[in-house]
Amino acid sequence: MIHRPRRLRKNAIIRELVAETRFHKDMLIYPYFIEKGKNITSPINSMPGINHFSPDTLIKDVEKGLKKGINKILLFGGGEEKSEDGKSAYKKDTVVAQAIKLLKKIFGEDIYIITDVCLCAYTSHGHCGIIHDKYVDNDSSIAAIAKMGLTHAEAGADMVAPSDMMDGRVGAIRQLLDKNHFENTAIMSYSIKFASSYYGPFREAADSAPQFGDRKSYQMDFRNPNETMQEAYLDEEEGADILMVKPALAYLDIINRLRASSNLPIACYNVSGEYSMVKAAAAKGWIDEKSIVMENMHAFVRAGSGLIITYHARDIVEKGWA
Ligand code: PBG
Ligand code: ZN
Repeated sequence: MIHRPRRLRKNAIIRELVAETRFHKDMLIYPYFIEKGKNITSPINSMPGINHFSPDTLIKDVEKGLKKGINKILLFGGGEEKSEDGKSAYKKDTVVAQAIKLLKKIFGEDIYIITDVCLCAYTSHGHCGIIHDKYVDNDSSIAAIAKMGLTHAEAGADMVAPSDMMDGRVGAIRQLLDKNHFENTAIMSYSIKFASSYYGPFREAADSAPQFGDRKSYQMDFRNPNETMQEAYLDEEEGADILMVKPALAYLDIINRLRASSNLPIACYNVSGEYSMVKAAAAKGWIDEKSIVMENMHAFVRAGSGLIITYHARDIVEKGWA
């Protein structure tokens, strides 16, 4: 009998030595929902532990996170006036723009700010683009989305992350940024974003649920792995700096395949539904939260994701899980 593998699992020291996958808290990006107003910390019912913040309370929470090493954040806005064409998304003084300015004024280069770029929280119909004749019109949508990216860059965002899934939006954003001398503002593309039921809790939080139909005409079909690779390839051609797969847990094969077919950094988004399921089961005492969360984090890394966007980030650092 050959016992070689077992000998390498004998105790924690040797297990640590031969571990093939290592997770580090530097991989984490923490999402925030920002709201207009002052002194707001309002819990999101379907996402225990996650709050809506106004810019002033956001500063305080970011400061707490920074002390534990959470220095990369992803901002979602909303609460602006909704319209057919979502034009409030690219006003110069959206709450997102205000928050970026405030964060940069206080923390400067210590905080790395990424912003979500999409129209769905700003359109009256809740779709990610502009509707013409009952369908999302790609080209007018990407013009608006590029303008939104530019306003975030002007406010001081380090990176913009388009999540709308229109074709050509990465190229449109890159062009507009470069034209306005924001060559150093990076783009993380939600390249492979599936039409998924795992976004349920988020849509409640961001008030961005579509008022009719669904997002299947612009988000990816979870039955089509080949098509997703083509989408990611196009984003790369258009100038994306980082490619993202979303959701994460149900799509580890996609992360793994994208890792093999691209040389760009790969991110995954451990989305709201994935988070809320863990939180709900943990609250009932059905699972051990710490070990489930860390098993999931290692799964993302093992699949090939070097960047992990997750609502668990603060628990991981504050509770000393990593
Ligand atoms: C909107 C957007 C969504 C998420 C990020 N940006 C929801 C959607 O496409 O319906 C999901 C995030 C999450 O579920 O945590 N473009
Ligand atoms: Zn959207």
